Amino acid sequence: GKVAVLMGGPSAEREISLLSGNAVLAALRAAGVDAYAFDPAERPVWELRQEGFTRAFITLHGRFGEDGTVQGALEALGIPYTGCGVLASAIGMDKWRTKLLWQAAGLPVPDFCMLDEHSDFEQIAQRLGFPLFVKPACEGSSLGVTKVRSLAEFRPAFEAARKLDKLVMAERFIGGGEYTCAILGGRALPSVKIEPASDFYDYEAKYFRDDTVYRCPSGLSAEMEAQVGAYALRGFEVLGGKGWGRVDFLMDEAGLPYLLEANTAPGMTSHSLVPMAARAAGYSFETLCLAILEQTKR
Ligand code: DAL
Ligand code: MG
Repeated sequence: GKVAVLMGGPSAEREISLLSGNAVLAALRAAGVDAYAFDPAERPVWELRQEGFTRAFITLHGRFGEDGTVQGALEALGIPYTGCGVLASAIGMDKWRTKLLWQAAGLPVPDFCMLDEHSDFEQIAQRLGFPLFVKPACEGSSLGVTKVRSLAEFRPAFEAARKLDKLVMAERFIGGGEYTCAILGGRALPSVKIEPASDFYDYEAKYFRDDTVYRCPSGLSAEMEAQVGAYALRGFEVLGGKGWGRVDFLMDEAGLPYLLEANTAPGMTSHSLVPMAARAAGYSFETLCLAILEQTKR
């Protein structure tokens, strides 16, 4: 039957989603799948039924497409879709609630606290130290994220994040390197090390700079690679995740990993991490897309 590649959508990550979606669409078509683009920002999702689509490949990022909303709509329409269901999508979109669950499960997460306009920024800075990160709880692609180096920068960073979400968090900076671990069908793929040329792995570094260095294999010891993979799988499991996803990590100076967040509909652009990790595991972009599409057959 016809496959809809859901892309675009109304979130702040719309442009990235279109890049992901068009890459997936081209790969599926090259593999002979009867696939078409469908942008839920331009047409209501119930038209999927009228149009005769029998499966959906979700390449929507951020709110609406990655937070359980579209997943619930597809459940109601009876259209099988790739990746996480309603619950894991909804929790995974929310970095605060994700961290609460991970802490409860005994997984290591960087120290953090929630901010509002009444917060004592000085006291929080004393606890977390500088630099620290300020981020909206429910965004992706580092939108609204600031690395704060001084008290003077703290409140403006809060206000910038607040424009994107009413939940804003401050998080301890962990300085031993950034890693990510992709999950595909219950298995952890090789980790990727990210070395941004700019200050941190922000929106520009993620998609538009060609000087971000990615290492896969990441250079972790076999023991630490296994640890990161086990943490990623456990972190994903705690959220109720299935199908595919990506868990991001920071490493401290002693080489101990901390879980940052889960991405339940990760980027599939030419610069994205899951395709990179999959390649190291022997998947071409095309076979990766087909493996994800198979998830609709459960
Ligand atoms: N939120 C972006 C798309 C990612 O996780 O890859
Ligand atoms: Mg994310």
